Amino acid sequence: MTSRIEQAIQRNLCSSSTIGKFPESLRSAIEYSVFPGGARIRPTILISVAKACGDDMPEITDAAGSALEMIHCASLVHDDLPCFDDGDTRRGKPTVHKAYGENTAVLAGDSLIINAFSCLASVSKYSLIRSANLTLCLSKYAGFPNGICAGQGWENEANIDLKSYHMSKTGALFIAATQMGAASAGHDPDPWFELGARIGEAFQVADDLIDVLSDDISSGKSVGQDEKNNRPNAIREFGVEGAKRHLQDILAGAISSIPSCPGEGELAQLVKMQAAKMLEINDSKIIV
Ligand code: IPE
Ligand code: IPE
Ligand code: MG
Ligand code: MG
Repeated sequence: MTSRIEQAIQRNLCSSSTIGKFPESLRSAIEYSVFPGGARIRPTILISVAKACGDDMPEITDAAGSALEMIHCASLVHDDLPCFDDGDTRRGKPTVHKAYGENTAVLAGDSLIINAFSCLASVSKYSLIRSANLTLCLSKYAGFPNGICAGQGWENEANIDLKSYHMSKTGALFIAATQMGAASAGHDPDPWFELGARIGEAFQVADDLIDVLSDDISSGKSVGQDEKNNRPNAIREFGVEGAKRHLQDILAGAISSIPSCPGEGELAQLVKMQAAKMLEINDSKIIV
């Protein structure tokens, strides 16, 4: 699975042919934003759902997983900028704006967003309808009113609705992962909403716990951001113990929300594995 994802992203990252020279530092910043990756959890879920649904056009699945990861990487590059969270470290190395400067970081994020959509358009030669459905799905969960843009926009409101904020900021790309996995294999994406929403909500609660209880070295990124920026999070809402219980409740319903499909059993195993990782989180202080 890992090599399938890495090869697909490598292939799809800059798939359009060049029509002249291009700025080397921007090319390098784009590559730095995507490689080496983090957990690649979103394309892993997308490909697993596609496989559970038959994965009959793997070129489309690979393009969808790559596009989703490009949007995720772009969101991290922009999220780390001084005008958002002003992060110094990401995936254990300096953030893109620290390594390349702010304006190259903005352009690297922009390029990844645009290339993600060209990647989806490029597979229209296999199936026009799947390519269009994937484009609609990814734009819905990346943009406004319910995608990442909206999620980040909540941070500028005086009163933040925590559920909508989390759903748009983080849940959206997990819903995109399950729905795009189904759409890649020509299945109806609608029944896959709940599974994505549950995994996404659990993931954000786990991330909030990391932000409060972990440190920069073990998490590989700048922690303590919510406190520093006075942001609401699951710990403020429920307390540490309450957040851990909330995490367990959300995950408990994830398995039963898997829609009926040929590879249902195998997918349930993967969801259980991801859930176990979230419940342990890699810091002994946070084991529930
Ligand atoms: C971090 O996502 C941002 C959140 C939505 C909490 P990941 O933890 O998936 O980041 P990487 O890709 O593994 O670095
Ligand atoms: C990042 O959210 C999620 C995005 C939509 C970019 P956070 O700001 O909470 O995540 P980290 O802690 O920087 O990874
Ligand atoms: Mg942020
Ligand atoms: Mg951040």
